[in-house]
Amino acid sequence: MKCKLFFFLYFSSIIIVLIFSTCAENPYRQGEQLYTFYCSSCHMEEGQGLRGLIPPLAGADYWKDNQDKLACIIKNGIEGEIIVNGKTYNQPMAGIEKISSFEIANIINYVNQSWGNDIPFKNFEDIEAELEICAPD
Ligand code: HEC
Repeated sequence: MKCKLFFFLYFSSIIIVLIFSTCAENPYRQGEQLYTFYCSSCHMEEGQGLRGLIPPLAGADYWKDNQDKLACIIKNGIEGEIIVNGKTYNQPMAGIEKISSFEIANIINYVNQSWGNDIPFKNFEDIEAELEICAPD
């Protein structure tokens, strides 16, 4: 009887350790998948953009300096001339109407911590508040 209990505890602790280690390995995994699905076709796999046409998100001053506008850009798109790392871009980007605030938060935090970017974590509440501002009436 004692022996059975020992094995039960032994194996359940292994399983718990395994669950925790896979979670800790890549905290932005969902953000990575969403980025690949929604953004990488234009901004490319490593956020490098496409020369002259699509601005980069990796090491981009625009991304870093406009952290409070990103949620609205993702949701509603952006158009008109913008300057990213000294280069001018002027091609409209469509928004993703059906994306959730949670998915937006995951994408932003994934990009904030990828490809050499080291921008502090943005919390979900801030993103919700920013989306309120640009929501249609
Ligand atoms: C169909 C192509 C396309 C897709 C898909 C796309 N973008 Fe863009 N994005 C653009 C273009 C083109 C611009 C430049 C807009 C302009 O000139 O005003 C841009 C600009 C931006 C900017 C502002 C400039 C910068 O470099 O920081 C951000 C932020 C951005 N995109 C984020 C995203 C994110 C995040 C996704 C995925 C959720 C995404 N984009 C999906 C084409 C795209």
